[in-house]
Amino acid sequence: MNYLHVVFKPQELVVYQAQMNNKSYPITYQKIKKLDLLALIKQIKLDFPHNQGGILKGDALAFYSPFCIKIADEDVVDMEKCFAEIFNVPFVRAEALVDNGEETLKKTLAEKQQTIGWSIDYCGYNPGKAEYTTESLLTVANGYLGLRGTLPEMVISDDTYPATYLAGLYNQAISVIDDHQVHNEDFVNAPNAQYISLRIGQGKFVNLTDFKVISLYRRLDFLTGILSSELQIEDEEGRRLKIDCRKFTNMARMTHYSIEYQFCPLNFSDQITICTKTDGGTFNYGVERYRSLNSYHYEIKDLIADKHKTYLLARTYQSKIGIGISTEISGDFFAPDSVENRINENSIVQQVVFSAEQGNCYRLEKNVAIAISTVFKQDWQQVDTWQLPNFAAQLAESQLAWQTLWRESDIVIAGDMMAQKLLRLHTYHLLASCSPLTNGKHKLDVSVTARGLHGEAYRGHIFWDEIFILPFYIMHFPTTARQLLMYRYRRLPAAKQAASQAGYQGAMFPWQSGHDGSEQTQTLHINPLTGQWDPDHSHLQCHISLSIAYNVWLYWLNTGDKPFMIDYGLELLIEIAKFWLSKTAWDATSNRYHIAGVMGPDEFHEYSLGNKEAGLQDNAYTNLMVAWLFNQIDIIVLSLSKQDLNNILNRVDIDTDFWQQLTTIKENLALSINEQNIIGQFDGYFALKEIDWQKYRNKYGNIYRLDRILRAEGKSADNYKVAKQADLLMIFHNLSQDVVKNLLKKMNYATSDNYVEKNFNYYFSRTSHGSTLSRVVHASLAENIKLSALSWQLYKEALFSDYQDIQGGTTSEGIHTGVMAATLNMTIMTYGGVDIRQPLLEINPSLPSHWRHLQFKLCHLGVNYQFFITQEKLFVSCDRDTEILVNKQGYRISAGKIANIDYKNEVVA
Ligand code: BGC
Repeated sequence: MNYLHVVFKPQELVVYQAQMNNKSYPITYQKIKKLDLLALIKQIKLDFPHNQGGILKGDALAFYSPFCIKIADEDVVDMEKCFAEIFNVPFVRAEALVDNGEETLKKTLAEKQQTIGWSIDYCGYNPGKAEYTTESLLTVANGYLGLRGTLPEMVISDDTYPATYLAGLYNQAISVIDDHQVHNEDFVNAPNAQYISLRIGQGKFVNLTDFKVISLYRRLDFLTGILSSELQIEDEEGRRLKIDCRKFTNMARMTHYSIEYQFCPLNFSDQITICTKTDGGTFNYGVERYRSLNSYHYEIKDLIADKHKTYLLARTYQSKIGIGISTEISGDFFAPDSVENRINENSIVQQVVFSAEQGNCYRLEKNVAIAISTVFKQDWQQVDTWQLPNFAAQLAESQLAWQTLWRESDIVIAGDMMAQKLLRLHTYHLLASCSPLTNGKHKLDVSVTARGLHGEAYRGHIFWDEIFILPFYIMHFPTTARQLLMYRYRRLPAAKQAASQAGYQGAMFPWQSGHDGSEQTQTLHINPLTGQWDPDHSHLQCHISLSIAYNVWLYWLNTGDKPFMIDYGLELLIEIAKFWLSKTAWDATSNRYHIAGVMGPDEFHEYSLGNKEAGLQDNAYTNLMVAWLFNQIDIIVLSLSKQDLNNILNRVDIDTDFWQQLTTIKENLALSINEQNIIGQFDGYFALKEIDWQKYRNKYGNIYRLDRILRAEGKSADNYKVAKQADLLMIFHNLSQDVVKNLLKKMNYATSDNYVEKNFNYYFSRTSHGSTLSRVVHASLAENIKLSALSWQLYKEALFSDYQDIQGGTTSEGIHTGVMAATLNMTIMTYGGVDIRQPLLEINPSLPSHWRHLQFKLCHLGVNYQFFITQEKLFVSCDRDTEILVNKQGYRISAGKIANIDYKNEVVA
């Protein structure tokens, strides 16, 4: 066993390992910057590459349980975390070891590894963007209700952003910017009942600006959904308080959240006033570039206080959604009737004054319930009659609920501590954004927003990101997946209306969808580099409807849910197909059908060369997905009885030649394919100019938003072969190579043997990854074509994308649910190799070489599978007799037995 010892001395780090010489690394803590410190640790890793863990010794900051130090450009740096992240093994401080024995060290490191795998934590307080990012990642949520990871003392400011989000709570507002009227549908920051603070004597209420933050440590536990914080703070007179807090949204009772607030005067005894608010004066402030827009979205209807209880009723201005909040406080230092209440214009302030003794600790808890009228129809106003169980009772039921979710969805990896941690981070945040116990059980009429219940970027809207998100629910929680599809079905009338207003048939789903399913994409978008409002044509991404169709199909394939297909699914598919039929046009010259006026997933291209009207012709991804959809409709129809089919056909108005048109068009849609077998992203793509990527990288460093850079240079990405994210390549992400090959063949386009590799290399080298969705798609494709090293590099970047906020600030505005889900899916589908896109599960594992094993569960056609995959073997068990394919060979698996398949040599035991 090799353990690294790192000793923090005043001018150096001394590093040693058994049987190796000491090495000293000079360091000036007051001068070193975070980036250089990380570079130094990377160097140490190069010098001492093989370790099972490490011990940190020497001078660390007092009051922090992890080993923290202060450096030049950061308030506090957690060295256990920095070393663990770079070495990918746990590090502990020497004080954590009860003795010097190897067994103790092993045990302590194993415990630390468990903690790392199940939580994220932050030391210190860095107000502003970094704090906003931390708050997004520390959000507690249950699919209905989301609270950013702030402390109760924090208020809306540039430094901190406490916010409360409720699934589906939208409001539209008009703002006037530079003489333009801008219409926006916002994700409302609801009234905030989280505020708690206290003051000593007649002093100021504790806040993180006027008081000295001695230490702040926050930890979010994925297993239980609890955010805990430990704050030590000092006022101008040197009086010190220790404040520990725990908060969670109840996973078993979606409308409820609970806060425990414990405070201890450390070096004084005095009168303390504790204050808490039910604040109806909140507004949207989470995204800097939206701040000039109208950000007040609701009005107060009623405010009532009764001893330890408060009650608030509000209603959004335009969407008229009612919000009812009731709160209750209790504590070991006051009686309910000693609470003083003050009702202000839009908030209720509750205060308790008492004499606090040095060395004692006092505990307050606040329990809150929130109802909104879209979910609780008439009852939302009766929220004051609801039970508010105490913190402990709610915690117990919520923890149990979280456990049931983890039992189904946890992915376990041996051999990669950080991948394990980040996959759990992603699972946690997905379950926080949409949970089977809330969205699924209570049939909420919402879907998963692009930024979760965590922030206001993209205004809580729902995008094609669902194509990355739904598979997670399909595999682990199919009833929730059904519920998410119902969000779309309920908005079918709006999509039909949008199609008809635009002169098409069928259903045209909006690129950005919110409350009622109307198009919510902005028509103007601000370029932060120039400060200018540029036109935004992204609503032309009609491929959104193909993602909905794809999800309907994937759900059907994995559940065989016939009632869904008969009552809703096929109707959705047919209406979407009708839209595409009406959008295609025959051209006698090319002898092909064409689709014009669209955009593909690559948002850098809005106009074709020389064209003044936005929209592209024959986006290859779109055309291929249309051909695929038409094909699938035929297949699904054949699997239904005549009677069921007639029922559906009675609901959809189709022309007599509808079926014939599907066949003719799917076989004759146009693509442009060059001599090198590259499928052009759209008509005219090959005439675009190449860009000197190296030059731009050298000049700008981070070029992920190359479109903005080019625009600031007076150029346009439209004229260049540059892509924000996978576009044509998405077809190989959605469908197997065989299926794509067949589509092309039926369309009468030839393919060469390695055309997938060629297309991958061509487009990958022209992509800037301006969307977090880009890397993970390329990672999965790279693995499929055996570029494992590249796949791993991209997968790793995707895993770290929110955790390290690799886009430099976007996580502060909310997490990215699409990439989070996509990394989970890729782990199962690409590295685990489970192909769920066919009736018989096919499994071809391809684990990253350092993973010892990978373990997960999934449900397919009513069979619950458990997989345990090592570098050589696949162990499968299930609860019903079934059959699977491994490397194209069929295996029968008996219920309750573990099949052991040597997948590299294909021997079953
Ligand atoms: C991406 C889109 C995505 C949207 C919301 C954009 O940056 O380009 O593909 O749907 O973010 O996540």
